[in-house]
Amino acid sequence: MVIHFPSNLNSKPLLVKLFLFFTALSNFVYAETTIYQGDLLHFINDPAETDNSHQYIKDGGLIVKDGKFAGIVSAEEILSNHRNTKIIDYRGKLILPGFIDSHIHYPQTGMIASHGEQLLDWLKEYTFPTERKFSEKDYAKEVAEFFIEQLQKNGTTSALVFGTVHPESVDALFEVAQRENMRLIAGKVLMDRNAPEYLRDTPESAYTDSKNLIERWHNKDRLGYAITPRFAPTSTPKQLMQAAKLLDEYPDVYMHTHVSENKDEINWVKSLFPQAQSYLDVYNLYGLNRDHSIFAHGIYLDDREMKSMAMVGSALAFCPTSNLFLGSGLFSLTRAEETKVDVGLGTDVGAGTSFSMLETMGDAYKVIQLQKSTGTNIKVKTLSPLKAFYLATLGSAKTLDIDDKVGNFEIGKEADFIVIDLEATDLMKFRMESAKSLEEKLFALQVLGDDRAIHSTYIMGEKK
Ligand code: GUN
Ligand code: ZN
Repeated sequence: MVIHFPSNLNSKPLLVKLFLFFTALSNFVYAETTIYQGDLLHFINDPAETDNSHQYIKDGGLIVKDGKFAGIVSAEEILSNHRNTKIIDYRGKLILPGFIDSHIHYPQTGMIASHGEQLLDWLKEYTFPTERKFSEKDYAKEVAEFFIEQLQKNGTTSALVFGTVHPESVDALFEVAQRENMRLIAGKVLMDRNAPEYLRDTPESAYTDSKNLIERWHNKDRLGYAITPRFAPTSTPKQLMQAAKLLDEYPDVYMHTHVSENKDEINWVKSLFPQAQSYLDVYNLYGLNRDHSIFAHGIYLDDREMKSMAMVGSALAFCPTSNLFLGSGLFSLTRAEETKVDVGLGTDVGAGTSFSMLETMGDAYKVIQLQKSTGTNIKVKTLSPLKAFYLATLGSAKTLDIDDKVGNFEIGKEADFIVIDLEATDLMKFRMESAKSLEEKLFALQVLGDDRAIHSTYIMGEKK
């Protein structure tokens, strides 16, 4: 346990210093411990790799102290050893680590469910005109507020987020996330070609604006910065080189982009970068495929590309509702497992059709089921409910390299957690009556659940 003094204590007048000193001291002495009682589930390993993947305690207590997890106890231990501790009673409900969305676009919140197009036309027709509005900071702030509220209502406590090309859009999002004390990673889009004039930056402005945003926000409270080239077709080689230069200057900053989502997109990349052997190879050539790089989709990556990602420690975000909505294709989780690439789960709103990670898990199952009838020569492994919930929590935390801080209930990790009502709707209640095992219940939850199943969301031990 440490006492947290304000970092700028030396610059304050004596009286203020004393006041801050005693406030910090009393917070230390009286730090409140709370036990959240309910059915606890969290993951310690990937269920695809070991049977020892999770811990499930029916009627347990999750101890939270000072915004961090401080242990897990049984109901009997609560009675015998914690009589004087504050208990919040969630008996009969399921307590999970907060969901982590590994790929989402906040500016696309207002254009979710836009009809009729596949990726490239969808970008032209709906996305670019919508993103134009984010040059206005006030507008961006309004959307950021709504976006963060939607994340919390859906039990999502961390996310990796696209902004727009405008630095103001990222300021607006980080301001709201900081106030809400969320662990969130985001970045300004880099885009200096093949986009409308009104959404283009330049290699120089992309570098300077991103650098300023990094200085302003990276590692401030729980925030992190991601250099965010939209995708290879909308950046010149010069801009991609500037992006890599920033990553060299700030080695713990992230890289976030799209790869191999759609066949027309892939052909376009081939014509724009004839020297590259493949789509991913473009990012290899410009030094953007590295540890801390997260690529959305990767539907058409071959084994060689996947292996090259595993080798450098980059990761993929699997975004099933988006892939179905845009008709992009079917992501092979089995091949990703075989080639040992880290995979997280993403909603990809607004091509994704829901903020709910439960609905996203439901569609992940269906995307994998569909591959069983397409006659590929790999044996497709059915998505187990345990693997789905792993992907939405610890799996996504690993892809974002934040698993030392969040993702499960390990002692000392930040207390981001959610309370789930398995009987949130009449249909769920009816179905749960015959679901006997944990796996059966989780599966019904992932197929039938949505934001109505999220009873409460806690961020660093604070109820939202
Ligand atoms: N590829 C480039 N930009 C986008 C985007 O905004 N959404 C999706 N799904 N794919 C993209
Ligand atoms: Zn996306």
